[in-house]
Amino acid sequence: MNPIKYIFFLTSFALLFIFDGNSQGLPELPATANKMIDSLIEQMNLEEKAGQLTLFTSDIDVTGPTMRDNYKEDILKGRVGAIFNAYGADYTRNLQKMAIEETRLGIPLLLGYDVIHGHQTIFPIPLGESCSWDLAAMEKSARIAAVEASAQGLHWTYAPMVDIARDPRWGRVAEGAGEDTYLGTLIAKARVKGFQGDNLNAPNTILACTKHFAAYGAALAGRDYNTVDMSDRVLREVYLPPFKATVDAGVATFMTSFNDLNGVPATGNHYLLTDILRDEWGFKGFVVTDYTSINEMVAHGFVANNKEAGLEAINAGVDMDMQGAVFYDHLVALVKEGKVTEDRLNEAVRYVLEAKYRLGLFNDPYRYCSTEREETNILSAEHRAAARDIARKSMVLLKNENQVLPLKKNAGTIAVIGPLADNKKEMIGSWSAAGDGNKAISVLEGIKNAVSDSGKVVYAKGSNINDDSLDFIQEAVDVASTSDVVVLALGEAALMSGEAASRADINLPGVQLELAKAIQETGKPIIVVLLNGRPLTINWLNENASAILEAWFPGTEAGNAIADVLFGDYNPSGKLTLTFPRSVGQVPLFYNHRNTGRPISENKYTSKYLDVPNTPLYPFGYGLSYTTFSYSDLRLNKQNLTMNDSLNISVSVKNTGKVKGEEVVQLYIQDVVGNVTRPVKELKGFRKIMLNPGEEKMVEFVIKPNDLAFYNQDMSFKPEKGEFKVFVGTSSEDVKEALFTLQ
Ligand code: NOJ
Repeated sequence: MNPIKYIFFLTSFALLFIFDGNSQGLPELPATANKMIDSLIEQMNLEEKAGQLTLFTSDIDVTGPTMRDNYKEDILKGRVGAIFNAYGADYTRNLQKMAIEETRLGIPLLLGYDVIHGHQTIFPIPLGESCSWDLAAMEKSARIAAVEASAQGLHWTYAPMVDIARDPRWGRVAEGAGEDTYLGTLIAKARVKGFQGDNLNAPNTILACTKHFAAYGAALAGRDYNTVDMSDRVLREVYLPPFKATVDAGVATFMTSFNDLNGVPATGNHYLLTDILRDEWGFKGFVVTDYTSINEMVAHGFVANNKEAGLEAINAGVDMDMQGAVFYDHLVALVKEGKVTEDRLNEAVRYVLEAKYRLGLFNDPYRYCSTEREETNILSAEHRAAARDIARKSMVLLKNENQVLPLKKNAGTIAVIGPLADNKKEMIGSWSAAGDGNKAISVLEGIKNAVSDSGKVVYAKGSNINDDSLDFIQEAVDVASTSDVVVLALGEAALMSGEAASRADINLPGVQLELAKAIQETGKPIIVVLLNGRPLTINWLNENASAILEAWFPGTEAGNAIADVLFGDYNPSGKLTLTFPRSVGQVPLFYNHRNTGRPISENKYTSKYLDVPNTPLYPFGYGLSYTTFSYSDLRLNKQNLTMNDSLNISVSVKNTGKVKGEEVVQLYIQDVVGNVTRPVKELKGFRKIMLNPGEEKMVEFVIKPNDLAFYNQDMSFKPEKGEFKVFVGTSSEDVKEALFTLQ
């Protein structure tokens, strides 16, 4: 046994420690661990150190533009310390074996993967999940993802993506939690907790990675990878809070973003990676780049070559190079030339070794490669049930004219039509990790399962997702004509959202609208089920369909979850977390905008379009239920709030319909006059409550002066005295209003 391996063995019993999920940030390591890591760093040569800072993709999955053929040789040479896109208990065990048994120091590999919304049991896309406003459910979905991923040898996921995004053209809105900072912050924390659990040392928890740092969601014109220019105020108020919250929640790693921010690429951005992340927030994990984003600083025009790019990256605060091989090629020379200090190098190596330590890999490098857990955990009945539950919670009922929904299971013939009706593959959406679309339930299957023998279900494709062939429409019209009701499954292909999937036009693709219009001619009621990764412009459907259910990409249990909602086995409770515009020309369109000096009015010279109203088609926070809720008695316990006090806000919510249902009661606040202009509304709280028919509940919120703080002209973050409006209601637009003064 070599000396290092011996030290690992001797100390392995003393190395266990508990990750406290409630504490501020990553917990300190015990002294024994620090000693072991110090001694290891002392024995490493420069190449081995650069190796620990190098991450290469395997060829099991492809998530970026470049591949490397010889990554296995690099492992054997100790030149790569981490691999991504490889999973499977046996496969990862073999990779690990190379690092442990065949390299000089036997340092275990770190194995990462994009486990974004489930590993093999696929949950709804994150945008969908966010519409549940159910933090416990989102934590659970991340927990299950970690249980499955960790059984297949994975230690590290590249999630959560916490980029606030306000532009539905950007395909990556599918991966985030929508447009709102307050909600996005809570979701970010819940997901970190889900992946990392309470104890990173447990073999079923994995490192989370908060990404993409920072402001990637504001890519100009919604085009992926595009540049970002924004004020420090907007950066800090809107985009950074979810990132900071994950640091406080103990996230173990951070990923840089592809964009530049105010002219400086995020991957070479000292202000972001060191001044804010390390010095202000005290982050103690390691920072990985996005896929070749060091190299891309050359194309940005920020540096002349890869070597300079590597220098900027490491000195800005990057610790690990994803796939770029820049640290691999140049870091040793940069240190020898004195451009990078050995202290900085050692610091980065230490962060990486600490992560491996926290996972218990020095104790047992194979603890995550479990063929037994692989067999029992993956796609278990329990995991599928959880996926079905959160899928139905994620769906948003956008329209339900004359209560056409829920459908009766024995109500005659149901025609299930549309390019996404008899489709399994697309149901799991983009970034579906090791998910297999063939294991998903299609809309047609789900409806057939639900109806069973009580009704008749017929099917026609109607069109393809995204081409101009009208060949299938007549058959669909014939099928619809002989039916009592049509369920029309429309939307996007999975890969029309996600990375590198921006769209300038966010209408239904292909001839799907023509299909809908032809079906409408039959006079049959149309229930549209939308499957898509972003808000679409659906004015015609809104005017002409009888009902619209936004199902997003619901995951493995898609069809069953959709049927649960369509037939009323589940009463929909989802609320939009991203605004639906009427026209793509309105975007970015978001609820918490600031006012102009000429707010819209009849007067010509006000801020508006000639051809479209300013309002969205469906606002943030909107979503219907099969029951109705009435709001009354909005009360504040005081009119004047002092700086050391708190304000109690209460409202009475009653279920005025015939079935029990859940409502997301939303609290918004406006600071009427500010030292800098303030948004017309900002979400400051919400409660999801269940009410039986006729039942009434009092919902309470507490607001403290600090909840009203913002960055003023001096960039100090504090609340300002003056008048505030309080809004409580069922969406950002449908609210009751009250006033108070902060003194
Ligand atoms: C690029 C994406 O931007 C990032 O989110 C992902 O984690 C990496 N590729 C790795 O696949």
